[in-house]
Amino acid sequence: MKTIVITGASSGIGKATTKYFASKGWQVIATMRNVEKEKELNLLENVDLITLDVTDSKSIDLAYQSIQDKYHKIDVLLNNAGYCLFGPLELSSEKQIIDTYNTLLVGLTLVTRKFIPLLRENKQGTIISVSSVGGVLTLPLTPTYHAAKYAVEGLMEALSYELSPFNIDCKIIEPGGIQTDFWNRSYQMSEGIENSVYEKEAKAYLERMTQPVSPNRSKPEDVAKVIYEAATDGKHHWRYTVACDEFIKHRQSMSDDEWYETTCKNYMK
Ligand SMILES: NC(=O)c1ccc[n+]([C@@H]2O[C@H](COP(=O)([O-])OP(=O)(O)OC[C@H]3O[C@@H](n4cnc5c(N)ncnc54)[C@H](OP(=O)(O)O)[C@@H]3O)[C@@H](O)[C@H]2O)c1
Repeated sequence: MKTIVITGASSGIGKATTKYFASKGWQVIATMRNVEKEKELNLLENVDLITLDVTDSKSIDLAYQSIQDKYHKIDVLLNNAGYCLFGPLELSSEKQIIDTYNTLLVGLTLVTRKFIPLLRENKQGTIISVSSVGGVLTLPLTPTYHAAKYAVEGLMEALSYELSPFNIDCKIIEPGGIQTDFWNRSYQMSEGIENSVYEKEAKAYLERMTQPVSPNRSKPEDVAKVIYEAATDGKHHWRYTVACDEFIKHRQSMSDDEWYETTCKNYMK
């Protein structure tokens, strides 16, 4: 039975991917910060819940140890855990900025480093990281999110070279807007936004992002299917997009200067 470790499996894309892989007969090690709160995945037969906070090295070590003791090797690591710090950089606290990078980039890097031996032990494997369309193009008022997602893309590409002798591939998933709770439960607002010089633009933009989503928007299950494809297609292929091809094409059709002008006009004026 093939085995996948998933971070941030308590909701959204992580939860949908857990269910999808389990339905395909995989052993899923669904990791999350609060295992005791999970009331659905714990009922699935080939799903094992393990505590893992990606920002806590001790938690990473403990999760690794229990997975190594029980499974000895894994086929796939899915780095999925994440959230967004929304708001101007100037008004984000030092703690908010560091916490964001610790989750989206440092935690992801440390989890990846820790689990490489279990993939090597398997003699082949795939590390898949959920980036974003925001890892390919930028929009206003989420600078740390973009910085982290761009960095994740660089990390996955660069890491794939040194792991190639061990048949371990690194892949990147780039979702566009997906119907999850991301813009309710998983964003934090810059602390100093109230009554600031950025308040008007930031609140107008946030309102756009948190509007009730259209039922046509892609679902986390659509992302899960693409993650499954990335895990099983046997191809060396870095990037897999979900629900953002048009947006990326639109960006690529413009020069940097044109994109800057258009984006400022659309969002900041
Ligand atoms: N939804 C979108 O439109 C979209 C688009 C592009 C990319 N993405 C990316 O997709 C990934 C999943 O997001 P989602 O849309 O599925 O949102 P979500 O439903 O809010 O899920 C986020 C998950 O990350 C977990 N998490 C946050 N901090 C963590 C930490 N320190 N350690 C372990 N787990 C942690 C959360 O766990 P708790 O339950 O403990 O909070 C939750 O399970 C993120 O990386 C996000 O950037 C989402």
